Amino acid sequence: MSRPRVFSGIQPTADSFHIGNYLGALRQWVAMQDTCDAVYCVVDLHAITLSMPENAAQLRHRTRVAAAQLIAAGLDPDRCIVFVQSHVPEHAELTWMLSCLTGFGEASRMIQFKDKSVRGGADSASVGLFTYPILMAADILLYDTDQVPVGEDQRQHLELTRTLAQRFNHRFGPTLVVPGPYILPEVARIADLQDPSIKMSKSASSPQGLVDVLEDPAAIRKKISRAVTDAGSEVRADEDAKPGVTNLLRIYSALSGESIAALEQRYAGSGYGAFKSDLGEVVVDTFAPVRERTEKLLADEAELDAILAAGAARARGIASATLSRVRDKIGFLSPS
Ligand code: TYM
Repeated sequence: MSRPRVFSGIQPTADSFHIGNYLGALRQWVAMQDTCDAVYCVVDLHAITLSMPENAAQLRHRTRVAAAQLIAAGLDPDRCIVFVQSHVPEHAELTWMLSCLTGFGEASRMIQFKDKSVRGGADSASVGLFTYPILMAADILLYDTDQVPVGEDQRQHLELTRTLAQRFNHRFGPTLVVPGPYILPEVARIADLQDPSIKMSKSASSPQGLVDVLEDPAAIRKKISRAVTDAGSEVRADEDAKPGVTNLLRIYSALSGESIAALEQRYAGSGYGAFKSDLGEVVVDTFAPVRERTEKLLADEAELDAILAAGAARARGIASATLSRVRDKIGFLSPS
């Protein structure tokens, strides 16, 4: 039996991924490359939707840093496909066709668009930010994807993707695979360290609110020790009364493999200090090797670019076959 196809993407919008990206998505990506036919993408076209990069060098650098981190975190280009979205032009082409199948009202209801456009000032929101979920749908549908490993914030976009695939199939006959979300509840929404009522986010968190994968160990320890930890001193998971401690327990449990109950027991009566200091070490131990491997990969840009070019060639083989099916069903004249 063939293995299920998995597809996911991540934006190169910062100089490092954060611990929310790592736990909510990346770790699952690494695990799934062994059980699935996995395709992973640095979505650089998405990275220009909120605002254009400050300069061309910045986007190029961040795209390479993102790809290097994926490989450093455990993606093996021999066991999965790793590529850059803009290297496969089929993504932009399918987006156009799907956008003609998407209702304006339907796109207007996307929560992330509402949040991000309000934050940047509604007038400055681009049409690209508005159509962003349709580009995401194209990413997924081009690869006949069965499962999409993501964090909770992407759930609504996946629902739109499913709706568009079903609509296309209904209209033109079976053509696109209808994908399902793969979201692990324990790590689906890692919260901001300073404000546990919001998710940790590249665009909304303050520097103190997020821990970066590539951050230096001293800074990681400091941020964890200063994380907001509610009133009282009991290390106990309680989403309503202790959202800050609960978030730290989730991170600790996910990184160490110990259950939250076991951690509660270990730190019973010892207060927040020891708990946070041990968690700081667990995070540092996880990220230090990733940081080191990322630096090594970035030191040889030609080699990294060659890996990405090979990934794009493999991705394009799959994407172009899907796109020709779509073109044919809609009735576009074949160029040959
Ligand atoms: P992006 O780049 O914002 O985030 C990458 C992945 O990290 C997850 N994530 C989190 N998980 C848990 N807690 C958090 N605080 C947290 N913050 C981020 C995200 O859910 C995501 O899985 N639109 C996507 C990128 C994308 C994509 C795709 C994903 C483009 N095309 C196709 C899947 C399939 C995004 O902006 O992710």
